[in-house]
Amino acid sequence: MEKVTVNASIKYEILIDNGLLDHSGELIKAVKQSGKCAVITDDNVDKFYGERVMKSLQCAHIDAVKFVFPHGEASKNHSTLLNIYDFLTEHSFTRSDYIVALGGGVVGDTAGYAAATYMRGIDFIQIPTTVVAQSDSSVGGKTAVDIKAGKNLVGAFHQPRLVIADTETLSTLTPEFFSDGMAEVIKHGMIKSAELFEILSNSDIKSNLVDIIKRNVAIKGQVVENDEREKGERMLLNFGHTLGHALEKYYNFTGLTHGYAVAIGMSTFTHIAEHRGICKSGVADKLDTLLKKCGLPTTDPASIDELYKISLGDKKHLSSGMNIVICTDIGESKVIKMSVEEYKDFLEG
Ligand SMILES: NC(=O)c1ccc[n+]([C@@H]2O[C@H](COP(=O)([O-])OP(=O)(O)OC[C@H]3O[C@@H](n4cnc5c(N)ncnc54)[C@H](O)[C@@H]3O)[C@@H](O)[C@H]2O)c1
Ligand SMILES: [Zn+2]
Repeated sequence: MEKVTVNASIKYEILIDNGLLDHSGELIKAVKQSGKCAVITDDNVDKFYGERVMKSLQCAHIDAVKFVFPHGEASKNHSTLLNIYDFLTEHSFTRSDYIVALGGGVVGDTAGYAAATYMRGIDFIQIPTTVVAQSDSSVGGKTAVDIKAGKNLVGAFHQPRLVIADTETLSTLTPEFFSDGMAEVIKHGMIKSAELFEILSNSDIKSNLVDIIKRNVAIKGQVVENDEREKGERMLLNFGHTLGHALEKYYNFTGLTHGYAVAIGMSTFTHIAEHRGICKSGVADKLDTLLKKCGLPTTDPASIDELYKISLGDKKHLSSGMNIVICTDIGESKVIKMSVEEYKDFLEG
């Protein structure tokens, strides 16, 4: 079993291995000796793994109840949240009890925000089951739900007490969700680790998942330790996201998933940076080769002009400018502050 420790406002461990699900009870017992727990999951994940986790908790003599909500981003809202609060009160949950979030980023963000707010905050444990959740969202303590005005607009920073990443669970993901999550994994290599990028490029990814996820959470954990509340270094995690978000908006959040949009954002910015001489020559091609290996796109027919206009929809940029993340080489990244005019010029290549 691999272990990564995060020293954020609270210290916690991320455990990574194949088959950890069947040991989740004993692993949780090591950090939570008392209290009962609510396993919160979605219907897809429940079908595959709900029973196994409940059984493991039972074997460790943990008093556990389970709450299942319909899968998908549409559930990441206040209505699900209210149902979770009702469920917790029906089962007389107090501040010494805790939540176990079993699932992808939707479950982690929603259950995490429920934990952050129920009785002004109770403990929670993450059992991430998607590439996105294992490599990214389960670490860092950002929890949130969506509102009509936009995604993740209501949330809280609330660090988990433990993260249990069973890489075997990734085998039941659809190929599309597997690829989608790989975009953030490649992003971590691009911004911080040439070694991770090499492993992804030169090995069979599916047979190296324990090592790959470990490296990812170590990178994310380190960035979070340095900048828990997102003032400086954490901005590097936005690599590929400025254009990616504009693309997601352009397709009304339906045509293109987040990872696919980020992949196009990373590739486009790297080609431009290379063309302008701020990124080492050859990096963009290596990035494209890896993105394609993972089933991800590198370009999109949407016009750059349209995407620029969408970026401007975010009015705060007009006065304060934009923080653009670029990679100067594989594993090397920096933030460049640009005015909106400079950004337009940059996008034009
Ligand atoms: N908090 C953060 O720092 C952070 C970071 C990145 C993304 N996010 C959030 O994460 C969410 C996206 O996460 P996601 O991609 O994991 O989506 P998701 O949770 O919707 O999971 C994707 C799909 O896969 C299914 N699924 C999950 N695990 C499975 C498994 N092991 N086998 C088979 N099916 C499985 C789910 O039911 C769902 O249909 C977004 O809401 C995003 O805002 C948060
Ligand atoms: Zn992202």
